[in-house]
Amino acid sequence: MSEKHVNRKDVVFIHEKNNFIMFRLLNLSVSKILRIKFWIHYFCRVNKKRKIWKYILWTVLLAAVVIQFFRPAENTGGNKDNHISKVAAVSPRVARLLDNSCNDCHSNTTRYPWYSYVQPVGWWLAAHVKDGKKHLNFDEFAAYRPYRQFHKLEEIDELVAEQEMPLESYTWIHSGARLDAAQREILINWTKDMREVLKAKYPADSLVMPGKK
Ligand code: HEC
Repeated sequence: MSEKHVNRKDVVFIHEKNNFIMFRLLNLSVSKILRIKFWIHYFCRVNKKRKIWKYILWTVLLAAVVIQFFRPAENTGGNKDNHISKVAAVSPRVARLLDNSCNDCHSNTTRYPWYSYVQPVGWWLAAHVKDGKKHLNFDEFAAYRPYRQFHKLEEIDELVAEQEMPLESYTWIHSGARLDAAQREILINWTKDMREVLKAKYPADSLVMPGKK
């Protein structure tokens, strides 16, 4: 029998039968199959009538446009009066590394890429910068109490050594901010030197976190 002569009814029957076998393979009972069929039919009918997908699409598009008008405040042009270099001179090499890998999140000046003007990416970045600055701000560093400066330097050492900073979500896009082993060592040695400066400058117990004395 050539394909041309196959009865349409037979084809439908085979098709239904295959469907049935497939459902059975998925371990679905007949009543479950009927229920699923019912909901599919129901959804298709409703969909046809109300054009639900069209509404959903328009709503999503409209929302995507509206959120563009809600821009977070930019982190730019903040003052540098208390920059970390006021504590001790920072070599140009270290300054370059900090600028390249840390300052977008840990200073008063962020360089914004074009996609930061697209929401919700901009909101996400702003939240990161706010969080990063709260924990450590190289432009405010000299205003920190001595014990806090000392503790932050220890943390920089630790997080850079463990490659937790700069954040992976950042280096994923800013691949140039990634630190190689030699660069990590430069930063780590610098935090050690800075801690020596603090030790020489302040009495030992003023470098201990309050509560840990
Ligand atoms: C993309 C933003 C971003 C970049 C780039 C970045 N950080 Fe961070 N950093 C954060 C955020 C957010 C936190 C706070 C939350 C956390 O600990 O994960 C943080 C926390 C820290 C802390 C902990 C401070 C504390 O008190 O817990 C240190 C130290 C630190 N970062 C150092 C660095 C150094 C050094 C660099 C560059 C080599 C760097 N970070 C790059 C966002 C960033």
